[in-house]
Amino acid sequence: MCGIVGYIGNRNDVGSLLLNSLKKLEYRGYDSCGVAGISDREILVKKDIGKIEEVDKKLDFSSVKGSIGIAHTRWSTHGGVTKENAHPHLSNNKKIAVVHNGIVENYQELRNFLKENGFSFYSSTDTEVIPNLIEFEMRNGKNFEKATIDALRKIEGSYAVLVLNADEKKLIAARKGAPLVLGAADDGHFVSSDIPSFIEHTKDVTYLHDGDVIIFGNSLKIFNLLEDKEVIRPVDTVEWNIEQAMKGNFDHFMLKEISEQVETIQRAVEQDKSIIFEIVQQIKEAKGIFFVACGTSYHACLTASYLFSKIAKMHVNVVVASEFPSYEHFLTDKTLVIAVSQSGETADVLEAVKTAKNKNSKIISLVNVMGSSLHRYSDQSLMMHAGPEICVVATKTYTSQLAILTLLIYALVGKYEEGKKELKYLWNLIYNLTSANIRERIKQLSERLKDSNHIFLIGRGLQYPTALEAALKIKEVSYIHAEGFSGGELKHGTIALIEQGTPCIVFVSEENEKEIISNAIEIKTRGGYIIGVASKNNEVFDFYIKVPEVGNTNPIAQIIPIQTLAYQLATLRGFDPDRPRNLAKSVTVK
Ligand code: G6P
Repeated sequence: MCGIVGYIGNRNDVGSLLLNSLKKLEYRGYDSCGVAGISDREILVKKDIGKIEEVDKKLDFSSVKGSIGIAHTRWSTHGGVTKENAHPHLSNNKKIAVVHNGIVENYQELRNFLKENGFSFYSSTDTEVIPNLIEFEMRNGKNFEKATIDALRKIEGSYAVLVLNADEKKLIAARKGAPLVLGAADDGHFVSSDIPSFIEHTKDVTYLHDGDVIIFGNSLKIFNLLEDKEVIRPVDTVEWNIEQAMKGNFDHFMLKEISEQVETIQRAVEQDKSIIFEIVQQIKEAKGIFFVACGTSYHACLTASYLFSKIAKMHVNVVVASEFPSYEHFLTDKTLVIAVSQSGETADVLEAVKTAKNKNSKIISLVNVMGSSLHRYSDQSLMMHAGPEICVVATKTYTSQLAILTLLIYALVGKYEEGKKELKYLWNLIYNLTSANIRERIKQLSERLKDSNHIFLIGRGLQYPTALEAALKIKEVSYIHAEGFSGGELKHGTIALIEQGTPCIVFVSEENEKEIISNAIEIKTRGGYIIGVASKNNEVFDFYIKVPEVGNTNPIAQIIPIQTLAYQLATLRGFDPDRPRNLAKSVTVK
């Protein structure tokens, strides 16, 4: 998803400062990038399609000097991947530059209006209406601040925008429905889509609310469009540091984050007990529980639904967030909605939460990013405490979600301590699951699978969502077609695709061993190559990955080797696992 970052302060090297910041936003996924600064009351824009490194080599972002500037990584939504569509975008008089994350939903209407008023457009983006609308307001005699506020009021949709004005040498930042954080450093202010882009300069951050407009002048003021008044937002200190957000000795963030699970699962389990118990109470009082999430977080919710049934004998609904509107008729003020999202910014999840809020349902969230929109919209939140997850594909946050949800369900049936004990037992085993030995073993498998056209995965009960999540991991980074099925389902159609040597990963637990092995035999009989993820070997396996039997925490243990497999398949096939094509870390559009 697009990333934006801006700086205003005392330094004179804004181009190289923003180049460095932009690189920290690469993980969000992008296809083009650009930087703008001010030189002699003119705006200097450097932008193009391609990776930051390539574009910088060609255009030299560091040659943008001065103490004020904005920068962007674009993940295209409206308009193809072209230089013209890359940000920053200029107004017709070239005095205003804008970078934008989000979607201007009424851009066609605004574009027609501006065209009728003599404006020309040079890109096919929705964003280009923003600088021109501001210019239009300024032509009517308003100053930059007033013109920007009035223009923002006319924009429907979502945005995090940074606006630069050459004449007044001013910067304005605003957000509605897309993330934006302010960082106050000793020598200036940063404003960005995410903290890693400026954490090496400051740990003092302010999370902006919807409708906030920051006007950077002699002093900084925040005006809220929805409240129609100036507001004060608290300054927070982030707990993690740049090393945690950086790769360290690892080749990729994905591998680093897989390895971090030794600690992150531990941190997830060390939750504030009182919040767990408050949520337990709300679950008990609720009439109807809905889990909503997308992607990997959805798979964590699906796993939780099996645990709710198995441990608490309780029914919960699990709905993919984008499908949630179809269920709104069942929502009342007694319904509890549990929204799970690493980023806390996924538009579909936020929309689902809005739907539930309109029905006065209670909202509980499980998030990793403090101050994210979901965190703020919820009545109560549990934090994952996994630290920044930079790789686009989720690994450590998935197992944190599973650990926290497992603990919650144990607490629900009065077995909090027992749950904690099981999770503690598990985290002692994680070190082995992320060790170099296992990586070596899985490398042999990756060599065998790297040219496969399909990989099928099966599991029963708790292992079914694991098969879905494992398939998603493989698809996301290696681009090999992978599909997860419940053990019994593959034979109802897809078994037709099994040929000599087709790989099938089988997740086995003590509980369902007999049935799943019999499914594995059905596949092997048709020529399938069987990879067993199990606590003991079986003659049906052609390749065996040993994972300890840990009962209700099996989903955590069993996914880790497949995260490693997905990583190795991607690198062997020559792909960058941290930035898979077409994917974004947080999808802030519907
Ligand atoms: C995007 C990412 C997925 C992620 C999903 C949900 O699609 O590419 O990896 O699982 O969003 O993200 P969330 O931040 O809501 O957990």
